[in-house]
Amino acid sequence: MGNIAVLGLGRMGAAIAGRLVDQDHAVRTWNRSPRPPVPGTAAAGSAAEACAGAEFVVTMLTDIDAVLAVVTAAHLAAGTTLIEMSTIGPDGIRKVADALPAGVHMIDAPVAGSVGAAAAGTLRILAGGDPAELDRAAPVLAALGSVHHCGPLGRGAAAKLVLNTAVITGLAALADALTVGAAVGIARADALELLGASPLAGLAGRASGGPGAAFAVAMAAKDLDLARIAAAAPLPTADGAAERLRRAVADGHAEADISVLANVDAPLGRP
Ligand SMILES: NC(=O)c1ccc[n+]([C@@H]2O[C@H](COP(=O)([O-])OP(=O)(O)OC[C@H]3O[C@@H](n4cnc5c(N)ncnc54)[C@H](OP(=O)(O)O)[C@@H]3O)[C@@H](O)[C@H]2O)c1
Repeated sequence: MGNIAVLGLGRMGAAIAGRLVDQDHAVRTWNRSPRPPVPGTAAAGSAAEACAGAEFVVTMLTDIDAVLAVVTAAHLAAGTTLIEMSTIGPDGIRKVADALPAGVHMIDAPVAGSVGAAAAGTLRILAGGDPAELDRAAPVLAALGSVHHCGPLGRGAAAKLVLNTAVITGLAALADALTVGAAVGIARADALELLGASPLAGLAGRASGGPGAAFAVAMAAKDLDLARIAAAAPLPTADGAAERLRRAVADGHAEADISVLANVDAPLGRP
């Protein structure tokens, strides 16, 4: 396969780079701060060095400011395809597309699933872009998971906002149910078992965290803010969940997995 540059070796970027190597792709990596090398990849000293000669460039970074800064510094060459996988919303995707040099192609491919799914190649990829570009990037995306084609550029990012609004807000709602359970004498494990056989089964599973779940509270707060800004309308339930996430960040839990929101033994983000 053609050379792939992965920019950003955080939780998700490192897992993605490792999975691409496992699937026999040639991968060069770059991260802003020193990080342990991902076995099998070649570490570059700058984003531009990582991207020189790359056919595909994957960005997996915190937010829109990070993606814009890194993509600008990468000096992508015409003919390169940027695969933007961070969660930055459709407006963010438009800004990145506007900042690209002429002749650079782009698809948006944000993902559902956490670090474990990235490492195992079982992410659900919400892809947006020109069909020909999506076809060209298909071998890279297939190495990482299943691809759901959402439409033109930015539509993957739009779909991701819908998904995360529901999942994050749902976890906060589940936390309320667990709090009620604790108050009326239903133990957390029993409540989760009950909920596991309800329409909220998936969320009940996510509330247990488990190996490979590493979606930081601060990232969830960022994602919910993107959704709330995009909606430009009152979202009473999501607004409540966002407030709970803000409190959890202020209480020092920014880096904890979001499953901590549904831990009634150490209730987070509650007034
Ligand atoms: N974790 C999950 O389960 C999950 C699941 C789906 C989607 N996502 C999304 O994936 C993206 C990455 O998440 P993550 O969990 O991998 O985050 P993370 O572990 O915090 O990693 C963030 C990465 O962004 C880099 N970065 C931040 N600001 C930067 C800047 N100004 N310039 C250059 N690099 C910068 C960091 O570099 P340094 O090491 O130098 O700080 C790091 O490589 C986010 O948009 C998140 O919402 C995460």
